[in-house]
Amino acid sequence: MSDHSPPAGLAARIAADADRAFGRSLGQASAGAELWSALQREDIDAAAAARLIGGTPVLAATVMRVANSALFGRRGQVGSLQRAVTTLGLDAIRGVVLAASLRHVGRQAVPGLLDGDEWLQHSVATAIAARRLAEARLPPPEAELAFIAGLLHDLGWAVFASTQPEAMRACLAELAVSPVRGDPGCRAVEHRHFGLTHADCGALVADHWGLPVAIGAAIREHHGRNAADEGISPLGAILRLADAAASDRIMPLACEAGWDRPALSADQAESVTDLASETAGLLEALHPG
Ligand SMILES: [Fe+2]
Ligand SMILES: [Fe+2]
Repeated sequence: MSDHSPPAGLAARIAADADRAFGRSLGQASAGAELWSALQREDIDAAAAARLIGGTPVLAATVMRVANSALFGRRGQVGSLQRAVTTLGLDAIRGVVLAASLRHVGRQAVPGLLDGDEWLQHSVATAIAARRLAEARLPPPEAELAFIAGLLHDLGWAVFASTQPEAMRACLAELAVSPVRGDPGCRAVEHRHFGLTHADCGALVADHWGLPVAIGAAIREHHGRNAADEGISPLGAILRLADAAASDRIMPLACEAGWDRPALSADQAESVTDLASETAGLLEALHPG
């Protein structure tokens, strides 16, 4: 158990709340939660994944648009779903399917507590930055998880805003009256209102949904683990930088403007030069018009 693990009762309640709020949202743009869980199976092959996705024309069209987008570097070259799955890899395909569903997640937040479109834009921007930063810096198996980790890194806010509106309202009111700056202060405010931070909450739900453990760990670490950042995983460090890039180049989520973020080196900044335009391009491919 990590030093951030919430009490078992709280963890169970959050997992159940997240299932109720989002269990059907994952894959809702497609065929529902069954498709998402089928895609999670380790033994699924490219042909089976393509068949599953192909059963839902809207999702199939989205996957084809994204696979052919500049982000994945194969503009106009991917002609079939099976080719999309084999050239991009299953982890990228899972990311695309997940990304196509995230708008439903953001929109379930109670209005006024979290701007779903802003949350989606921030999540997609962080996913792209994480992918770009991971490409040259992490070995392939971990690098391929960076996109999904980026998409889900602030899932905790959507969980809070959808399932604990009163606590979220009180938290936002406190932040508005006395803006908090710095990690210890932000951590304390979130603990006071929710019993854990949004990073711990997102990690808990990702673990509960059976995503690879490296994704949950990175989500837990995306604002650092403690003052010294001890023991942060390579994927967690990439995610921390990606969140900083998205917050800096586009904007941070309003509710977490006070958290400290690392500065990118010149080399890291170079990797995310086109972040704003790539984010706009991917959002358009996911949800045209
Ligand atoms: Fe965050
Ligand atoms: Fe973030």
